[in-house]
Amino acid sequence: MEGVGAYTLLRVERGGLEPGVPGQFFMVEAPGRLLPRPMSLCLAPAGELGFLLEGVGPGTRALCEVEPGERLYVFGPLGNGFRLDVERPLLVGGGIGIAPFPYVAQALGDPPVLLGFRSERHAEAAVLLPNAAVVVEPTYVTEPLAELVEDHDVLACGPEPMLEAVRALAPTAQLAWEAPMACGYGACYGCSVEIDGVLKRLCIDGPILEAA
Ligand SMILES: Cc1cc2nc3c(=O)[nH]c(=O)nc-3n(C[C@H](O)[C@H](O)[C@H](O)COP(=O)(O)OP(=O)(O)OC[C@H]3O[C@@H](n4cnc5c(N)ncnc54)[C@H](O)[C@@H]3O)c2cc1C
Ligand code: FES
Repeated sequence: MEGVGAYTLLRVERGGLEPGVPGQFFMVEAPGRLLPRPMSLCLAPAGELGFLLEGVGPGTRALCEVEPGERLYVFGPLGNGFRLDVERPLLVGGGIGIAPFPYVAQALGDPPVLLGFRSERHAEAAVLLPNAAVVVEPTYVTEPLAELVEDHDVLACGPEPMLEAVRALAPTAQLAWEAPMACGYGACYGCSVEIDGVLKRLCIDGPILEAA
């Protein structure tokens, strides 16, 4: 466990779990405290899984407070990851939306990255992607993106308004969406969202969806 700016990096022993495709997620729980929460895989060094946490509520705060050596419930990998068969990748992250990109960047051979944060303290997380171009509010990540979008295949993760703005600029982008998830594998319908009039379970039909 270590602080990364305003976030917390939780590193767990991998055991028999596979890290999966970048953009997939795991359900992570501090047993006996609260139900599991969905977490993107951030880093996959040998023998470990790394998750970047933002303590926004009871579940994520409980995970930020686990003690070294404490046993966790980790289930995954789940959902659809990013398609990596892109010629000119550009990673675009907002806030905790940086989480899946260190693992994505490793898989894609360090492509260009744009990151946006709401404060300098949050922006310290860019240390996880040392070559990234970083903006801090009031500048939004879509400003530099507008200059680069023509020549790139965009993979984006961040808050919903950012994803909508990215989608408007880059209609072929791959976007990582969020919804509250109770099970993570299609059983509870808690993550249902309506897309083009069709109900989708984001945990199995996503979380990565084509912007179109
Ligand atoms: C596929 C996926 C991957 C994720 N990866 C990460 C990650 O790598 N790191 C990380 O810190 N968080 C990640 N999240 C978000 C995280 O799982 C939620 O923020 C978490 O459920 C919050 O739980 P909580 O008990 O701490 O807060 P809660 O009390 O459940 O929520 C706190 C606030 O966040 C809102 N909220 C809760 N869950 C969501 C959600 N999924 N989308 C939008 N708003 C929500 C609530 O309405 C409330 O306002 C991911 C979510 C998904 C679906
Ligand atoms: S989280 Fe249960 S169906 Fe998606």
